Amino acid sequence: MNLEVLNGLLKPKSIAVVGASATPGKIGYTVVKNLLDSGYEGPIYPINPKRDEILGLKAYPSVLDVPGPIDAAVIVIPARYVVQVAEECGKKGVKGLIVIASGFSEVGRHDLEDALVSTARRYGMRVLGPNIVGVLSNSDKCNASFAPILPLPGKASLVSQSGALLIAMDTATYTRRVGFDKLISIGNMSDVNFADMVEWLSQDENTACISLYIEGLKDGRRFIEVSRKTAKPIIALKSGVSAHGAAAAASHTGSLAGSGKVYEAAFQQAGVVHASDLNNLFDRTLALSLQPPMKGENLLIITNGGGVGVLATDAAERYGIPLRFAPEDVQAELKKHMPEFGSAKNPADLTGMAGREWYEESVEHTFGHPWVDALTVLYCETAMTDPMEIAKAIKAAVDRSGVTDKPITVSFVGGERSERAMQWLVEHGIPAYGAPDVAVNAIAALREYALTHEAGQGEFHPYADVDEAAARAIVAKVRAEGREMTEIEAKGIFKAYGLPVAQTILATTEEEAVKLAAQIGYPVVMKIVSPDILHKSDAGGVKVNVKNADEVRAAYNEILANARAYKPEADIHGVAIQEMAPRATEVILGSINDPTFGPTVMFGLGGIFVEVLKDVTFRVAPVNEAMAAQMLTDIKGAPILAGVRGEKPRDRAALAEVLSRYSQMITDLGDEIAESDANPVIVYEEGQGVKVVDARIILKTK
Ligand code: COA
Repeated sequence: MNLEVLNGLLKPKSIAVVGASATPGKIGYTVVKNLLDSGYEGPIYPINPKRDEILGLKAYPSVLDVPGPIDAAVIVIPARYVVQVAEECGKKGVKGLIVIASGFSEVGRHDLEDALVSTARRYGMRVLGPNIVGVLSNSDKCNASFAPILPLPGKASLVSQSGALLIAMDTATYTRRVGFDKLISIGNMSDVNFADMVEWLSQDENTACISLYIEGLKDGRRFIEVSRKTAKPIIALKSGVSAHGAAAAASHTGSLAGSGKVYEAAFQQAGVVHASDLNNLFDRTLALSLQPPMKGENLLIITNGGGVGVLATDAAERYGIPLRFAPEDVQAELKKHMPEFGSAKNPADLTGMAGREWYEESVEHTFGHPWVDALTVLYCETAMTDPMEIAKAIKAAVDRSGVTDKPITVSFVGGERSERAMQWLVEHGIPAYGAPDVAVNAIAALREYALTHEAGQGEFHPYADVDEAAARAIVAKVRAEGREMTEIEAKGIFKAYGLPVAQTILATTEEEAVKLAAQIGYPVVMKIVSPDILHKSDAGGVKVNVKNADEVRAAYNEILANARAYKPEADIHGVAIQEMAPRATEVILGSINDPTFGPTVMFGLGGIFVEVLKDVTFRVAPVNEAMAAQMLTDIKGAPILAGVRGEKPRDRAALAEVLSRYSQMITDLGDEIAESDANPVIVYEEGQGVKVVDARIILKTK
């Protein structure tokens, strides 16, 4: 993408306001006034056919009448006139359109939005919006919006899909003490989308952390790709997770994907840190914009109060960084700065007697110790201490320690003096929060950031020994016959991708069934094969543990009779004779074709784990074996695969390969497969492999 063109939108050197108004209360008035009030240094051209002057600036009837070049045009006229204005902007050579006007796709006027974008494309212009608040940038002294004021200056930049939320966050930056360089409203994303913004902000020298409020992504795969390449932390609050995917849940996997799990997975793959709510977005953005990632696992907490220490300890456990005791030498150092009755464990309790020296010395000496990967300093306001002095002591200690590659967060619990001290800390680069658990949550964000980046997710190298053509031939046959795919056919496709399917052969007569059973070896499983009967057990179409020829004959006839009774009009191909895989740990693999992210793979333990506990994990496909191995540890039931209560570990390496091959299969055939699953897949002891017992593929409707 040409980032230069986006400069025209986001760092414009000159701005026209089309629909500028001299009437206070109109958006066209507010935008011009905001540009003036924010101290914008480039030329501002109000465009209004009825006025010569607006807010002391010369006004022009059209952009075509403006003498100088125009980088960005802010458009604040009713939607029905916007395309015409875009045409004029194109002729003028405007680089980008900031379309504040509403009344486009959000109210069903896709025609107007499409015309706007195609006009812009014809002239090589980019479009931000429509239906946005505008763009605010402290470093460019530019408030090209109708939000009240430039945000509190800082190192993060926020991109918001909701305009109202952006306005609300704008003024809240002052009360929340979280600074932003830019606030960008992205609205309908008719052209410029989140991936573009991440790409542009990642090279913006005034942005250290990219903060996103997302309702829905448009190009999920590109978002993942661009975000992974970004060297800056990205944090996202995703709303509306509950509704996602609920529409097209034809399979088990589809219904399990409904709870925002695909977004969760995609964010993890993209290296995006998750925010749980709006407060959390602010708090974590502050930490990510001021502090480096937490590269190891050891968090040391220093406190002057037991209560806040316990709250912080609970939070650490909750947010996945359980506290460990520091080594002897760290404890010995801490003991020098506390009374006899203090505690040098973790949290280190300097006690209520702690003054500025104890804080300063204990922070300085522990922060520099190699065991300590991160520090959280807690302080309860006491009568003997001045919070500002403690704040300055902490900052001085951090500076003297010389540490710049480990994070520190602070929480002061107290009144106004503590508030002022925390403000001072934030202004000096140390994130400070009013509650101990929030300070720990901020550290957890820095840990998550490090972990998503450390994770050996790497490249996916496709398996070369797969037979895509054979798989496509099966699909083509099923499509030509206009029916559902049978289990045997699905297994054929799995097999073409090197997946270890339980041998399954179709018998069309009783005699053939007996012959095949002997060939496969007793005992066998027998199942009805009919594209019209997908829930085979419900139809009485499955017999397991069939031990000899007599039983095969009986089962063959019973299955056919049951199936005919269940669905008289069903097209019955015959009965599948299948090797009976010995029992072991059962898992399920599944896939959906997510509307945002495309082919997506699911993994979980079988039985109640999936049915009741919904203990499953997702990844956007394809996944390499390292990523697949991570999926195996994601689920709560992971210890079952690792071997519990004296049981031997399961063959996780073989399972990871199966998952990876399966993810390649659904990716290669992403244009054909809507959903699929392998359920159950039996996982044997280490070294003994994996067996796919049942397989199902649902094709896309074309
Ligand atoms: N070129 C230049 N100026 C034009 C024009 C054109 N083609 N057509 C009209 N104008 C002028 C109007 O004469 C008017 O100026 P005036 O005050 O001197 O009369 C000004 O532009 C604005 O047009 P007007 O018709 O009065 O519109 P408005 O101010 O009532 O509303 C919008 C315009 C864009 C603000 C409104 O249509 C809208 O979309 N509001 C919602 C914005 C929003 O909420 N965005 C999303 C936030 S999440």
